[in-house]
Amino acid sequence: MKEFKKLLEQKDFSKDDILRLLNSEGEDKTLLLKRSREVADAQIGKKVYLRGLIEYSNICSKNCFYCGIRKGNRAQTRYVMEDEEVLDCARFAYEKSYGSIVIQTGERVDSAFTGKIEDLIRQIKELSHGELGITLSLGEQSDETYQKWFAAGAHRYLLRIETSNPDLYLRYHPDDGNHRFEERLAALERIRRAGFQQGTGVMIGLPGQTLEDLADDLLFIKNLDVDMVGMGPYIEHEDTPMFSDREQLMSRMERYQLALNMLAALRLMMPKINMAATTAMQAIHPDGREEAVLAGANIVMPNITPLKYRECYLLYDGKPCVDEEPARCHGCIINRIQSTGNQVGLGEWGDSRHFLAKQVCKD
Ligand code: 5AD
Ligand code: SF4
Ligand code: FES
Repeated sequence: MKEFKKLLEQKDFSKDDILRLLNSEGEDKTLLLKRSREVADAQIGKKVYLRGLIEYSNICSKNCFYCGIRKGNRAQTRYVMEDEEVLDCARFAYEKSYGSIVIQTGERVDSAFTGKIEDLIRQIKELSHGELGITLSLGEQSDETYQKWFAAGAHRYLLRIETSNPDLYLRYHPDDGNHRFEERLAALERIRRAGFQQGTGVMIGLPGQTLEDLADDLLFIKNLDVDMVGMGPYIEHEDTPMFSDREQLMSRMERYQLALNMLAALRLMMPKINMAATTAMQAIHPDGREEAVLAGANIVMPNITPLKYRECYLLYDGKPCVDEEPARCHGCIINRIQSTGNQVGLGEWGDSRHFLAKQVCKD
C-alpha cells in the first residue's frame, strides 16, 4: 500500500508502473483517482471548460469496423446540416458563454466539403466577434486543408489514433489503402505543423486489446507530446462488423472502470493537458462524465446539434441525450459539473496549458 502511494508521487512512469495504475482497484483505485484530481487541481485548476459539440454531418467516406456511421452502414440515413443551422448552434454556444465549439463529422476530403468548412469557420468567428474558439474533428486531411482551416480561425484539432498498436489498427480498419496507420500518424504530424493544438486519443476495451496495449497507448500519447486527449470506452454498435466480436469484450462496466484508470494515469503522466470527459463514459454510466472529471478530466462537450439530427449520429449503441434539446443539456451539464465541486469555465477558450507552456519555452 505504502509503495502504491509512492508510485502516485512519481513524475515518470515506466510501462510496469502504468500497468499497476491500470490494474488498480479497491483502495488503490480510490487513491489513484484522488491523486489524479489533486494533480489536475494543482496544475491546471478547478475549472472545467465547455465545448459545444456540433455534429455537422454523418456522411463518411471511411469504413472503420467499429463505427455506426461508417460508409458501409446502409441502414443509416445521411444528413448535412444547413449553414444557418450551424450558425444558430454557434450563436447558441456564444450566448450561453461556451468558450468554444467543436465541429465534428465523418471524414470527407472533397473540395466542396473542405471549402464549406472554411466558410463556416469564418462565419462563426465573425458572428462571435472572434470570441468563440473552434476545435475541429474532421479526420485526415492534406497539409493544404489543415492550413486553410487554421488560417480561417480554427485553432485546435482532434484526431484519435484509436489504438497505437499497428496490428490492432489493421484489425479494426479495412486494409483498403484508405485506413493506414502510418497515414494517421502523418496526419497528426500535419495537424501540428499547421499550428493547431493537437489532440488524439484511443478507445478502451476493444476486442483483442490488452492492458499492455493500453499502457503502450498512454506512452504513445506522452511521447507524441499532444496537447489534448479524448479517450473513452469502446461501445459496440449493432450495425457494424465488429459487433460479431462482442463475446470477446470485457463487460461494459469493466471497460468503464478501466477508462477511469486510463484517465487518471494519463493525468499523472501529463499534468497540464486538456482531457475530455467523453460522452461514451456517460453512455455506460449516468454519472460517467462527472466521474471522469473527478478522475482528472477538465473538458466537457455538451451536444448542441439540433435534435432532429441526433439519432443519425450514433457512433455506438446507447448514446445519451438523443432526445434532449440543447437548452436542456445546457442546464443539465452545468449542474453536473458543479456537483463535482469544480467550476465551469464560462466565456473562456480554456486552451491546453500544456500547449501554452510549450509556446513560452519556444519564445
Ligand atoms: N465506441 C466508442 N467510440 C467510438 N468512436 C467511433 N465508434 C465508436 C464506438 N463504437 C469514436 C472514435 C472516433 C470518435 C469520433 O468516436 O474514437 O475517433
Ligand atoms: Fe468515419 Fe470516423 Fe466513423 Fe471512421 S470513426 S467510420 S472515419 S466517422
Ligand atoms: Fe444532455 Fe444531460 S447533457 S441531458
